[in-house]
Amino acid sequence: MTTPKKNAFPSDFIFGASTSALQIEGSSRADGAGETSWEHASRRPGFLLGPGSIADGSGHYTRVKEDVRLMKEMGLQAYRFSVNWARVFPDGTGKVNEKGLDFYSALVDELLANGIEPFLTVFHWETPQALEDRWGGWRSKDTSRALADYAGVVSSRLSDRVTHFFTVNEIPCFTSFCYNSPIGFAPCVKCTEKEAHQAVFNAFLGHGLSLQAIRAAARRPVQVGIAECAFGYIAPLTSLPEDVAAARRAFRDNNTEAFTLLFEGAYPEEFVRKIGAANMPDYTEEEMKIITGKMDFLGLNIYTAQYAMADPSSENGYRLLEWPESFALLDMPGNYIVPESVYYGPRFCQELWDVPPMYISETGFTCIDNRGLDNPRIDDVGRISALRQYLLQVHRAVDEGILLKGFFYWSLLDNFEWRFAMSKRLGLIHVDFNTMARTPKLSAAYYRDVIRSHAVL
Ligand code: FCB
Repeated sequence: MTTPKKNAFPSDFIFGASTSALQIEGSSRADGAGETSWEHASRRPGFLLGPGSIADGSGHYTRVKEDVRLMKEMGLQAYRFSVNWARVFPDGTGKVNEKGLDFYSALVDELLANGIEPFLTVFHWETPQALEDRWGGWRSKDTSRALADYAGVVSSRLSDRVTHFFTVNEIPCFTSFCYNSPIGFAPCVKCTEKEAHQAVFNAFLGHGLSLQAIRAAARRPVQVGIAECAFGYIAPLTSLPEDVAAARRAFRDNNTEAFTLLFEGAYPEEFVRKIGAANMPDYTEEEMKIITGKMDFLGLNIYTAQYAMADPSSENGYRLLEWPESFALLDMPGNYIVPESVYYGPRFCQELWDVPPMYISETGFTCIDNRGLDNPRIDDVGRISALRQYLLQVHRAVDEGILLKGFFYWSLLDNFEWRFAMSKRLGLIHVDFNTMARTPKLSAAYYRDVIRSHAVL
């Protein structure tokens, strides 16, 4: 293969793929694991909108070696995975279940033996159901403290070999989308508006406490950050300076209970007015300081963005644009193809706040992967085309000096896509959910060539 000079990435930029425990592992109660809130909620009739289950996942728990071999064949430099809290602490707190940790320890060994750098997410929505029952889950600060205790245990056992730790993944998705929300993510409960905002705050507190706990328990120097999705990324409709400024402002406004809180450590006055003082969460200034603790990196999970343009006639100076019905959409509600999202997301973060170096910790494309009986290959050209467009924008960001250090594709494997269960496919590797047989798609070969040449092809 010739190495193209065009669109080449710096040599220290890394390419990886991401997954999470509940979405791929299966064997959900093996070796003494406790139940998680997602598995609990999944039993409610109508909760899952497609076939499949967390109990089976993508069968990764019993196929670790095969999956790492496939990663190696793809040339992945890094692999981001999460630890299931309920495997380590079946009741959320108390006595460590050593067998649960052994699984992750063996995975880390297997990755390192194959030259793949582990990036570990401590919490990707694996709340032990015991904590929902005991404390109401994230509505209580006891859960924030329990997360930090668990994070410390993970760090003490694995930081001899793992350098990169994400505290938590996407705070809105295990708080705002779960309480009084039509999205109905687990635990999918009704509560007061104040409790819902309290849950968001408590999750950020859990992140801040975990940041401290991971460092305190580490056996050698580690890098710690968060993987955040924001309530929504915003891209300017054009590159006119007034549109770019409008989009940046809209991005900050949109993310009061996400990046703004994380980097500014305060709730803006407009936000307090909007939700009403009585609905504000309880917190102390000391807790705010913990939340804004300096991270070593920032992970951005970016799939799409909404367009904004300048509008001097509106109160805030911008207008968010609605989606026309015919706009290019993947096989997932809201997942519009907006390649500039991965350029403006990191750029706006860098322009607005004092952010550490960043990774795109997730980007992926939900496609209907046709596989004919007489054609066992999966020629997912739609995924490849989208991936190429997004990678060009990542390259543009790096080229302009935006501090991006790596890119992780979501997902390595087809998997349990939360409420959609197995009905949505994002993997580079196809999984037949009847046999659990793995088949790399054409996109896996494309990504392998991108990694090998270290350039967008
Ligand atoms: C992200 C989640 C991840 C996966 C993708 C499609 O929001 O972090 O678990 O479901 O979306």
